[in-house]
Amino acid sequence: MLPYGKQTMDEADIQSVVDVLRSDWLTTGPLVSQFETAFSDHTQAYSATSVCNGTAALQAALHAIDIQPGDQVIVPAITFCATANAVIYNGGIPVFADVSADTLLIDVDDVANKITKKTKAIIAVDYAGQPCDYTALRQLADDFDLFLLADACHSLGAFYNHQPVGSLADLSCFSFHPVKPITCGEGGMITVNVADHGLAEMLTRRLHCFRNHGIDSDHRSRQQLGQFEYDMKYLGFNLRLTDMQCALAMSQLSKLTSFTDRRQFIAREYCRQLEPSADYQPLVHLEDRTHAYHLMVIRCRSNRDKVFNELRQRQIVTNVHYRPVYQNSFYRERFDVDSIHCPTAEAAYQEILSLPIFPAMEDHQIEFVSQSLAEIAFATAVSA
Ligand SMILES: Cc1ncc(COP(=O)(O)O)c(C=O)c1O
Repeated sequence: MLPYGKQTMDEADIQSVVDVLRSDWLTTGPLVSQFETAFSDHTQAYSATSVCNGTAALQAALHAIDIQPGDQVIVPAITFCATANAVIYNGGIPVFADVSADTLLIDVDDVANKITKKTKAIIAVDYAGQPCDYTALRQLADDFDLFLLADACHSLGAFYNHQPVGSLADLSCFSFHPVKPITCGEGGMITVNVADHGLAEMLTRRLHCFRNHGIDSDHRSRQQLGQFEYDMKYLGFNLRLTDMQCALAMSQLSKLTSFTDRRQFIAREYCRQLEPSADYQPLVHLEDRTHAYHLMVIRCRSNRDKVFNELRQRQIVTNVHYRPVYQNSFYRERFDVDSIHCPTAEAAYQEILSLPIFPAMEDHQIEFVSQSLAEIAFATAVSA
């Protein structure tokens, strides 16, 4: 089976974890802050705080900006459910905005339509790895005094107007799940990048405290200072990332540029090889930004489900990212979903398909997928 996404590991990655297993610290040791520093350097952010997965990153970011029960947070209709769920974990209400038809990125005009007196923040999702329109979103956030958050779980390695993802929003959240741009099994990160350094420091401190039960210091720093006392300031969680995971993530981060280059090459090849067919339309890559190509999403002009099944018969695994979040049972049962209007997202869901893409994918595999798609389109046309 050719998977739609997969980790790329080498001996250096494996050795980095083995070295930690032989060291004194398996968790909350020196590698946590080393990875965080490497990550904030890479993304040109004020700070980076590691957590145990991307969902925890979103939960912690929304806690840091003090989302309270009843606060509204605008999220795109097309995203992984974790984006909206994290709002609910904090007692907030996700408000769904539609997406643009050509990119499936959040539609800034619809965000403006959805702002009310209760809106506290916008979460922009860099869908498939392409950064959102951060200039327009920043303007909107400033005009209405909102926090701008990025769900950058797909887009590590991408740039918008030459600025790296991680530095574009007030807080940006990342995932290190195996199919993501870099991996450590499970893992996450929140970068903070606000102009006011006092605010940046306060947000970073809230993130550190929240990931460690609401306690304001960690075991290693207390040991280094020869202290035993700590204070639990509020009810936080254990969202910590281990040293083993940080070692692996740091090793992976050193290869991010080559991973991204390969993903971009694969995407260009798909676009070139699929171009002759009117049946498949890759999403648009906008010119003022680079694309991390976590996902290679096409729109199938006819019968997406048939294309999915026929590819599967040829041992090619594809996927659909995503059903509009509010169409999931949990949301249907608790939200007045009939009043939610995101027609572009609903129409796109019928057509989208994520093709295999990962750095270790070989050229002949790209050709095999493109050729298979062409044959399926031909067979459909002949039988029509
Ligand atoms: C857009 C988006 N947000 C959040 C998450 C959650 O990340 P994690 O699986 O690391 O919790 C994912 C993961 O698939 C995602 O794709």
